[in-house]
Formats: sequence, structure tokens, C-alpha cells
Amino acid sequence: MEIITSREQMFWIARELQRAGRSIGFVPTMGALHEGHLSLMREARAQCDVLVVSIFVNPTQFGPAEDFEKYPRDLDSDAALLAEEGVDYLFAPQVSDIYPAGFSTYVTVEGLSEPLEGASRQGHFRGVATVVAILLNIVRPDVAFFGQKDAQQAAVLKRMVRDLAFDTKVVVLPIVREASGLAMSSRNAYLNDQQRQAATVLHRGLSRATRAYADGERSGKRLIEIVRATIAEEPLARIDYVSLNDAETLEALDQIQEQPALLSLAVYLGKTRLIDNTMLGATQKQDAAAV
Ligand code: PAJ
Repeated sequence: MEIITSREQMFWIARELQRAGRSIGFVPTMGALHEGHLSLMREARAQCDVLVVSIFVNPTQFGPAEDFEKYPRDLDSDAALLAEEGVDYLFAPQVSDIYPAGFSTYVTVEGLSEPLEGASRQGHFRGVATVVAILLNIVRPDVAFFGQKDAQQAAVLKRMVRDLAFDTKVVVLPIVREASGLAMSSRNAYLNDQQRQAATVLHRGLSRATRAYADGERSGKRLIEIVRATIAEEPLARIDYVSLNDAETLEALDQIQEQPALLSLAVYLGKTRLIDNTMLGATQKQDAAAV
């Protein structure tokens, strides 16, 4: 595996690969890698000739009161993991290389960026869309892989790629969970043992709603109430939001009809904010078992 730190070098390598007719699969990450990230890489490895992974903790997607400074960073152990996964190129640029002095161009995906995470995290998706646009322009991948764990992010990026005519196919892959049901996340590292145990309530809430849906419940209000009531049983958990939305447009839903619906939530355990979601009414399997 080659570690690339400059955008010029990455750009040049991508050009050469393209000229040689080799397909590029790309997995953008912020590091602190876990099985969720690795599942994206394995699929990319299977679909493409060359696998490029980026690790870049992107300052523009963190709000001023968020955890940019303390976000877990361990490039050496991440790099060792990636080498084992058969990654060809690790792109790990400096902030000044992605955002040179005088940087002033941002990508805003209107509408889709506003509810849910967008409402709680002002400017978050502007930062995500901007950095992913820059990374796609540098790496020029044939296929870019994202996780359903960040369902709204995936919807925003799919829309950006379509609207701005990026020459990249976006693939979204299922949520990888621990055996306890807890969705894997780099932010789980902030949890103490008690909080980690308490955090399993997120998935329990979603599972109860999924069962109610299977039993015929279609009311948004009642499905949300099932999740809220489950989470309320856990004193360490504090709800930010629980919401039912159209999976594609992210419009709030009172009632599930034919369309797949996204049931999503954000919950605080102490100062740590966790998100999780499930799709209701979708045909494909949404959750991957932990490996
Ligand atoms: P990060 O949180 O590191 O996640 C990188 C990718 O891994 C995202 O596509 C995310 O959805 C996926 N992922 C995380 N946990 C997962 C899980 N448990 N199961 C499946 N996939 C999972 O998301 C970001 O970084 C950034 O916003 C980024 C897109 C890199 C832009 O900065």
C-alpha cells in the first residue's frame, strides 16, 4: 500500500490509472477505522481494480462546539489495518492541502441537507458535500462507497453527484453492527462501559418499531412513539430527535405508504451524540451482521 499525502500526487496517480483503463473504487473516511469502514472497502475491492481510501478529518463539517479537536486520530494503526485489507492507496492529506489559503468555494445541497442531522448540526452537510466534491475531483473514482449508517449523508451525496454531474457511481452499503446491536461508529470510542451498554437501546427502539411495522403499523406518529418509549426506558440516554422520513426526499412522513421510509434518530449518551436508523418498507436487507 502506498501512502499519499499530497493532492498533486494523488491526482497524478488517479490520472495514470485511468489512462491504463483500471477502474478505481474509493472509500472516503475520517479514520479511527472499524468493521463498518472495512465492509465498504471489501465491497470496493470486489467491484473495482484499484482501491483508494482517504483518511481526512474534515474541519468544515464540524460545528464550533463539536468534537473536531478530539476526534480520534491514529494514522499508524489505521494504515496497518488498510494494508491488511489490500488497499492500494491511502490518501491522507493535510488540512492546508485540501483547503488552501483563500479557500472560498462551498457545495450546498439544498432541501435534503436541512432536516434531521442538518437541523441539529448547522453547516454540517455543506462541509461534507464540499470535501467529498474535492476528494472526488482528486481521486476521480469510478465508484464511491458510503454507509447507510449515515443515511442522510448518503442521500445528500447521491444528489450532489447527480446534480453536479460527477463521473462517479455512488454505492450505499448496509449498517454494520456489534453483536449487541450497537451500530459501529468511531464515536463509540467516547463511551464508557456503562454508556456503551446503554447505547444498545438505540437499536432496540428501532427493532421494536420494525416489528410493529411488520405487524401492520403504518402511522409515523405511533412508530416514532414506540422508539421514543423504548429509549425513555434507558436513563442514560437523551433523545435529540426520532423521525420518519421519505428515504429519498427526506420529507417527513405521517404515514408509510408504498415508498421505503427512513426511521432515524440521534441520541446523547452523556456528551456523545450517536445516530442510527433503519429502513421500513424497503425490499433489500438493510443491516449487515457484525463480522
Ligand atoms: P466516517 O464517519 O469515517 O465514515 C466513513 C464511511 O463509513 C461513511 O460512508 C459512513 O457512512 C461509513 N460507516 C460508518 N459507520 C458505519 C457502519 N457501522 N456500517 C456501515 N458503514 C459505516 O462519514 C464520514 O466519515 C465523513 O462524513 C466523510 C464522508 C468521509 C466526509 O468527510
